[in-house]
Amino acid sequence: MGPSGSGKSTAMNILGCLDVPTSGRYYFRGTDVGTLTRDQLALLRRYYIGFVFQGFNLLKRTTALENLELPLIYRGMAREERRALAREVLAQVGLADREDHTASELSGGQQQRVAIARALVTNPSVMFADEPTGNLDSARSHEIMKLLKSLNEEKGLTIVLVTHEEDIAKYANRKVRFVDGHVASDNAAVAA
Ligand SMILES: Nc1ncnc2c1ncn2[C@@H]1O[C@H](COP(=O)(O)OP(=O)(O)O)[C@@H](O)[C@H]1O
Ligand SMILES: [Mg+2]
Repeated sequence: MGPSGSGKSTAMNILGCLDVPTSGRYYFRGTDVGTLTRDQLALLRRYYIGFVFQGFNLLKRTTALENLELPLIYRGMAREERRALAREVLAQVGLADREDHTASELSGGQQQRVAIARALVTNPSVMFADEPTGNLDSARSHEIMKLLKSLNEEKGLTIVLVTHEEDIAKYANRKVRFVDGHVASDNAAVAA
């Protein structure tokens, strides 16, 4: 959490290996990411990290199912296998009946569910979500947070989420507050 411009997205981009720090070191699974090439960073993201964004970032004229299949194509998964897996994960986020709808035919809440499913389909170690409820009304926001909470509790998925809304932050086990590019507080002890 933290005010606009406090460095939340910058921190998340470093944690998610989209960016590397100009000073200091960040180790992901024991590797100093500053020593990796761009291609190695891309591979690391592809195998270990899932991203969810405020603006959903789906392919608009592509079906929900095809949006989930895309990261699996990059992994070289065979067509039948990837279709079955995409179906299974779309059902997990409650959208089994929307498989063939294009993203633009879905509501905001449904699009964010598809985006979460797309992040999950590769079975990442950690999911990064930058203001995932920022474009949703409060009822839809709480639905998304309940879904994320259940993924954390039932699948053991680690989720790092940026928000500036206190009622969204309430779902978290650990809260880190940013001010002017620095960590101002971190209740890590409470999470243990
Ligand atoms: N620790 C930091 N060191 C250097 N620059 C930073 C740091 N944190 C944030 N910034 C800079 O501050 C600006 C806003 O940061 P950003 O991460 O977009 O904030 P937020 O997501 O909280 O609105 C960016 O230009 C970013 O490069
Ligand atoms: Mg931001």
